[in-house]
Amino acid sequence: MKLFDVYPLYDVTPVSANGLVVTDEKGQEYLDLYGGHAVISIGHSHPHYTRRLKEQLNQIGFYSNAVQNPLQEQLANKLGMLSGCEDYNLFLCNSGAEANENALKVASFKTQKSKVIAFKNGFHGRTSAAVAATDNQKINAPINKQQKVSFLPLNNLAAFQKEIQKGDVCAVILEAIQGVGGLDEPTTDFYRSVAVLCKAWKVILIADEVQSGFGRSGTFFAFQQHGILPDIISIAKGMGNGFPVGGILIHKHIKASHGMLGTTFGGNHLACAATLAVLEVLEQENLVENAANLGAYFIEKATDIPQVKKIKGRGLMLGLEFDFEVAELRKKLIYEHHIFTGGAKNKKVLRILPALTIQKTQLDLFFNTLKTALR
Ligand SMILES: Cc1ncc(COP(=O)(O)O)c(C=O)c1O
Repeated sequence: MKLFDVYPLYDVTPVSANGLVVTDEKGQEYLDLYGGHAVISIGHSHPHYTRRLKEQLNQIGFYSNAVQNPLQEQLANKLGMLSGCEDYNLFLCNSGAEANENALKVASFKTQKSKVIAFKNGFHGRTSAAVAATDNQKINAPINKQQKVSFLPLNNLAAFQKEIQKGDVCAVILEAIQGVGGLDEPTTDFYRSVAVLCKAWKVILIADEVQSGFGRSGTFFAFQQHGILPDIISIAKGMGNGFPVGGILIHKHIKASHGMLGTTFGGNHLACAATLAVLEVLEQENLVENAANLGAYFIEKATDIPQVKKIKGRGLMLGLEFDFEVAELRKKLIYEHHIFTGGAKNKKVLRILPALTIQKTQLDLFFNTLKTALR
């Protein structure tokens, strides 16, 4: 049997990793500034994380959601405390797409409506309602196109007002910093007005924090930098540091009922142990603060590179925009300089999404290398 060939692959075969360093089968080390699509939050193979997962595996790795699992409550408590989102309840699932799928479903149950407002260049995953709310027709099959979604330009309040007042909208889904799209952001004024209008029209506001959450933006959630209160927050990626886990935080004003949502694997013992380990390391090593500080350092260093036309993002969710497409630059960085970086839908943006444990010396190395690569 062969693999279903859907991924264009770089010719690199990682066999081990530690912190921000990934090693391939020939022993070549790479500086990982991409974390496998923003997934590695506390660094590869963090000792606390591997210990906790091994201990959990030796005890019990999985049982379904038909029995008590106190790890889920521990996780909800710790997450509520560290994020400041104590007025929310937690539902656990397995990926970012699944988180958004569940978020949209809850919104539709609650409002009994079905139209979604999403934004141009937004990305919310590849499954049913999540992909339908993703502004990329190429990854939407005819079956996905049955969903009712209006794509609006970011930061155009008049267009938003016109759409929401039609009265048929169940949810607005928004990334506080667009990941895949290329690091564009709603302004604080726009995000706040969206929140006010959602409340007025009884529409569920979903903050997609799958990529920007868990400290990456320099605050626990990126929406917190705009002073708004979403109804649902979706999470995944950095949450498990590589263990597949996702979830939604649902504000207490939305009531649960048995059978409303469900999953076989979601919230299993290993997934909870992985997420608890991530939260413990974020807290013990002050990594949210490190993301804010190192993000500021990155921006300072990037200002010295004349070829950079725009510095985008916050914390350690960053992008450098050039006036040329970055595909060749990324190849050069990987094959000649052994640094992993990311691309975006905006082909001129180089994405930088390192583990939140990154140090100044690693950013210095990146910028020195970038200067050489750009010569
Ligand atoms: C903002 C956002 N939402 C949702 C997703 C989908 O997550 P997953 O690939 O885990 O399904 C992504 C993935 O890149 C994302 O960036």
